[in-house]
Amino acid sequence: MEKIIKKIAVMTSGGDAPGMNAAIRSVIRAASYYKIESLGIYRGYQGLIEGDIVKMDARSVHHIIHKGGTILKTARSDDFRTKEGRKKAYDNLIEHEIDGLVIIGGDGSFTGGMIFNEEYNFPIIGIPGTIDNDIYGTDFTIGYDTALNTVVEVIDKIRDTASSHNRLFFIEVMGRDSGFIALNAGIGAGAEEILIPEEDLAIERLLVSLENSRRSGKTSSIVVVAEGDKTGENVFELAAYVEKHLPQYDVKVSILGHMQRGGSPSCFDRVMASRMGVKAVELLIDGKTNLMVGIRNNKMDTTELERAIKEHHNINSEILRISDIMSV
Ligand code: F6P
Repeated sequence: MEKIIKKIAVMTSGGDAPGMNAAIRSVIRAASYYKIESLGIYRGYQGLIEGDIVKMDARSVHHIIHKGGTILKTARSDDFRTKEGRKKAYDNLIEHEIDGLVIIGGDGSFTGGMIFNEEYNFPIIGIPGTIDNDIYGTDFTIGYDTALNTVVEVIDKIRDTASSHNRLFFIEVMGRDSGFIALNAGIGAGAEEILIPEEDLAIERLLVSLENSRRSGKTSSIVVVAEGDKTGENVFELAAYVEKHLPQYDVKVSILGHMQRGGSPSCFDRVMASRMGVKAVELLIDGKTNLMVGIRNNKMDTTELERAIKEHHNINSEILRISDIMSV
């Protein structure tokens, strides 16, 4: 017979993302709606190992839907990579009589969850929260839309300087292994070139393209570079290379960094997080485990954690084509 879920816990893990609070709120409120007790775990797996766990209810998540970051804090835990660490985590779950765990995070957090589930057969549901949008099984991750809007806003501002000074700007955006932010924010901000890890735009082609742009009358340009792009060693070396070969350009570099992860979540992220939180709780009630909640074609969906981690969320080739056409 299926175990009746009486108490669940929620945590945020890995890099913070705007909308995580909306997801926490949704999990806690859905639990309350279904008359299930709920707990919050501070600092992800590390807090679970250390027993940093608090009781929560519908009122403890008021006035957080609009806040960036995560009220539960987050961490990347090395201790959870060890068997001893995971044993402590399990003991704490049992001590608090927790029947199911909701993990809001990215692929690293889901890998930890999957290993834990294999060892202890503990019910786990993942909610994809990362600005990178690099998780298979969902069209969008929580925080991605907000990050895109933040990046576009900043590039618009940098463009003012670029055009006033006839400069070429290399702007590095986040995305260790994926170019979703670079590609979509790049198109949205009208970048001339976009460099992403998924597509090898040879550096020579970049030179040709920039030279063509200059000849066609462009006086300033924006090149958006994903953090994980392999064209150059890093964005400064890339800029130096271009400056050396195209001395006509006044080249500047801007690294946007962690400001991309902050700020109030967009309405899109808040609504999506609310939908995902409810789904996660309902899955636990239905006795499901080892699944990630996702959204595909605007419908709620689930994917096994293992697939979510191992398979690749591919960049849409139609969007790549648009970016090529726009840079004419
Ligand atoms: O995974 C989210 C992300 O923001 C990546 O885009 C980035 O490479 C990484 O986290 C940075 O991590 P940290 O905040 O630990 O430096």
